[in-house]
Amino acid sequence: MTHQIAIIGLGYVGLPLARLMATKFPVVGFDIHQERIAELNSGTDSTLEVEDKILQAVLVKENPFTDPAKQVNDSSVNPSKGLYCSASVSDIANANVYIVTVPTPVDKNNRPDLTPLYKASETVGNVLKKGDIVIYESTVYPGVTEEECVPVLEKVSGLKFNEDFFCGYSPERINPGDKEKTVEKILKVTSGSTPEIGKIVDDLYKSVITAGTHLAPTIKVAEASKVIENAQRDINIAFVNELAKIFSLMDIDTHEVLKAAGTKWNFLPFKPGLVGGHCIGVDPFYLAQKAQEIGYYSELILAARRLNDSMGPFVASQVIKLMIKKGIQINGAEVLMLGITFKENCPDIRNTKIIDVIQSLEDYGVKVTIFDPWAHPEEVQHEYGLESIQDINNLKSSEYKFDAIVLAVSHSEFMEIEMEPMKKELAVVYDVKGILPASDSKL
Ligand SMILES: NC(=O)c1ccc[n+]([C@@H]2O[C@H](COP(=O)([O-])OP(=O)(O)OC[C@H]3O[C@@H](n4cnc5c(N)ncnc54)[C@H](O)[C@@H]3O)[C@@H](O)[C@H]2O)c1
Repeated sequence: MTHQIAIIGLGYVGLPLARLMATKFPVVGFDIHQERIAELNSGTDSTLEVEDKILQAVLVKENPFTDPAKQVNDSSVNPSKGLYCSASVSDIANANVYIVTVPTPVDKNNRPDLTPLYKASETVGNVLKKGDIVIYESTVYPGVTEEECVPVLEKVSGLKFNEDFFCGYSPERINPGDKEKTVEKILKVTSGSTPEIGKIVDDLYKSVITAGTHLAPTIKVAEASKVIENAQRDINIAFVNELAKIFSLMDIDTHEVLKAAGTKWNFLPFKPGLVGGHCIGVDPFYLAQKAQEIGYYSELILAARRLNDSMGPFVASQVIKLMIKKGIQINGAEVLMLGITFKENCPDIRNTKIIDVIQSLEDYGVKVTIFDPWAHPEEVQHEYGLESIQDINNLKSSEYKFDAIVLAVSHSEFMEIEMEPMKKELAVVYDVKGILPASDSKL
């Protein structure tokens, strides 16, 4: 039977995957967010992950699924393909493969919040049929698919796991903002709830992922592999962040130290920085929480989290120290923050740690102006209640001179920015990313 694929959740992960799958298969992209569906159907992706013309090339005006009862089992018959986006559950009723790509955030106490996964599983459970496969892509701790999602699917559908329907887990490794390493060029881990289903899931991804796949022996292995990828990065960044704190006390340039150490063949090239976003700064909590539940209190993973979460106030204190040393009056000083998104060349502002820098600076009585050509000002206002500027020309008038400029995100636009006209006489330039040719200090 032809795969008829429903993708549940059309965000940074779901949309690129739906677009890619739609080049080969009939795909319906489902999202609860009506505005998101409307913008996608108009041929635009506000996350900028899929270029408009690439999106438009796969969009179809009608649901491309055929009624399973009317499907012919003849591989010479070319099935319809393309992407149809909808917020209506009935549009995914004829799918036989469901791929779930909804968020997996943490709550205010940094505990995993599985609500979107439970809700998406309920949605799928309502339309699940015999023989269907449900593949989860959201980042989770080992056991979530089989122990948390499957019971919801069974309860809502009345069907039996691994008899009537099956599951898979294939973690997403997409790197938002990266136009080179797009979804099809990143090797993908796959898995299934039985060896046979593992093979079907693997073949499905292999048919669109040019970089290939790695079939893991079980769903739990695949789940664990994803969460440790991000925890490993978090721990490595925490180490260099700790070095940055130590070397700042010793007045040694951390970047020069890392450059020198990096000449050894096995020294890992990590840089200090703010660890934000909804992957590296979040996923380690999933693993640590699960470990705690089963009686192991994770030391290294949580220490890394604490260290990385302390970097915002540290950056602010470094900027303030530099300003004081130059004799700049702190209370009422004006600071320009270059960048608010959690990473470069991407409009995503969720869980950006630059907020911690801004809040700490404001605690010192400093006024912060945010300039980010990528972030949508209305989203910054909605998410954080802050004003941000998207156009640098709004800043160039003479009343906009700053006591300090903090480069917080390495958007390509900032490489060419002319800072001199925006600097007051004594102004400090602080480079969080360590990329500017000239600055007073780097992280
Ligand atoms: N963004 C990344 O860099 C990245 C990379 C790898 C893995 N992941 C993981 O992938 C998952 C999705 O992340 P994302 O960045 O795409 O999230 P996102 O917030 O960009 O998108 C999620 C989408 O799901 C929709 N949604 C929420 N609940 C829903 C429901 N019940 N039914 C249907 N749609 C629903 C939202 O409206 C949204 O459009 C997370 O687990 C994340 O950890 C993300």
